[in-house]
Amino acid sequence: MMRFYLLCTSMMLGSALLTGCSREQQVVVDARDLDPFSEEAFCAWHIGSPQIGQEIFERPVLADGAGCVTCHSRSPETRLVGPSLYGVAVTAAERQKGIIPANYLYLSIVDPSFYVTPGFPADVMPDHYAGTLSEEEITDLVSYLMTLYPDE
Ligand code: HEC
Repeated sequence: MMRFYLLCTSMMLGSALLTGCSREQQVVVDARDLDPFSEEAFCAWHIGSPQIGQEIFERPVLADGAGCVTCHSRSPETRLVGPSLYGVAVTAAERQKGIIPANYLYLSIVDPSFYVTPGFPADVMPDHYAGTLSEEEITDLVSYLMTLYPDE
């Protein structure tokens, strides 16, 4: 399993301070090895590239992409096949008691049936992403989804 080396670059330190993650937690870890409800897991997700994640999210299936945009809007008014991901960085925390939002998002991508969003059909979201996207791509996707806060 891929290891992520969390070096304290100035950006990372900035986000670590914002979230209250301590320097000690910025070590060599893989978020998936950690208890998904723990603070360590939350800190471990502060890696990945939201920019690349957004590209992956928006690349259509026809262009060999993951096709997330086909089923998920990012605006509060538009409902496609799946739930709108407007503000999902916040709603992810409300789906299961105590879960670290990034872990919820990670699990939603690799194992959509672990929690079926109320009001939406099960078995519609593809369950192949763990096999078709690399771990790095999934991490980038999670980092991107974690930037989707509701507007003020
Ligand atoms: C064919 C349609 C479809 C595609 C493609 C799809 N999803 Fe989904 N997704 C769904 C549906 C339907 C649900 C709700 C049911 C469930 O939880 O499985 C869902 C649920 C989710 C959730 C949980 C949202 C919440 O509010 O609880 C996330 C996060 C998510 N998808 C992310 C993604 C990402 C990232 C991709 C691309 C890698 C993707 N989905 C591709 C249909 C899709």
